[in-house]
Amino acid sequence: MRELKKIWMDGKFVDWRDAKVHVLTHGLHYGYSIFEGIRCFSTSKGPAIFRLKEHIERFLNSAKIYRMDLGYTGKEIEEACKDQIRLNGKAESYLRPIAFTSYGEMGLNPLKNKISVAVASWEWGPYLGRDATERGVRATVSSWVRIDSRALPLQAKCAANYANSALAKMEAIAAGYDEAILLNSHGVVAEGPGENIFRVKDGILSTPPASSGILRGITRDTIIQFAQDLDVKFYRNDSTKEELYTSDELFFSGTAVGVAKIREVDGRKVGNGEWSITDKLQKLYGKATHGKEKRYEGWLTRVKA
Ligand SMILES: Cc1ncc(COP(=O)(O)O)c(C=O)c1O
Repeated sequence: MRELKKIWMDGKFVDWRDAKVHVLTHGLHYGYSIFEGIRCFSTSKGPAIFRLKEHIERFLNSAKIYRMDLGYTGKEIEEACKDQIRLNGKAESYLRPIAFTSYGEMGLNPLKNKISVAVASWEWGPYLGRDATERGVRATVSSWVRIDSRALPLQAKCAANYANSALAKMEAIAAGYDEAILLNSHGVVAEGPGENIFRVKDGILSTPPASSGILRGITRDTIIQFAQDLDVKFYRNDSTKEELYTSDELFFSGTAVGVAKIREVDGRKVGNGEWSITDKLQKLYGKATHGKEKRYEGWLTRVKA
């Protein structure tokens, strides 16, 4: 990771190297930390943060679910995100708001500890590599089952959820794949470790419903809006492992990953090399995030110099 200059921590900007916590920080021990992943893009009118409001709303909802009193309003956190970009001077950045129980008491009652809030950012290319956009990645269906919302609330982006993601990711890498696809406890497709999944079959686009145990991705929502605007037939439905194998097109969506083609699942080639719907959606995503589509201008928060 390349160091930038500043990180917003508990209400003020500190030098990158001073943005530290104690080893007995409560959230570090018990996974009691919520976060967001947001991207800022360069546009002809300067840096613009994509769907900032929706990300901050999800951040506040995560805090609410976990009974965290952030001590900052959504507006204040939005301003911190904008200032973070402004001060570090990197338009193409990944923003990471995070809140966690800080140093103080140990034990399983987090309510005794003060909540620390920070907004960091760094330069981060597409999470699965640039090749994922063009050529696509090789994925495998994980032996790890996606956590169930009766155990951990999936609509809260909590660090604890990502232990499940990391197990699936490591298993995929160890088996020579790029990424995992997790099924839920009913055996139907849920999502990737850090991204949602879409499928195209016979010209119809589909994605698992929120009830399948996924994070309701903001990129997923963006793709659904694009499908409507492009007159692509779309529905939310469950699919099985074998339906992944027989898809015409498959792709991951997420802030970190963007829109990444899946070219193979468990050694089966996806489709026949035609990506007509994915290509259209991918192209529109690139234009909308970079301020080249007027009708999606409302999704951009401009960062003024
Ligand atoms: C588990 C999981 N699913 C899906 C997503 C995609 O969400 P978004 O498009 O809001 O980045 C993410 C990323 O935040 C994630 O961590």
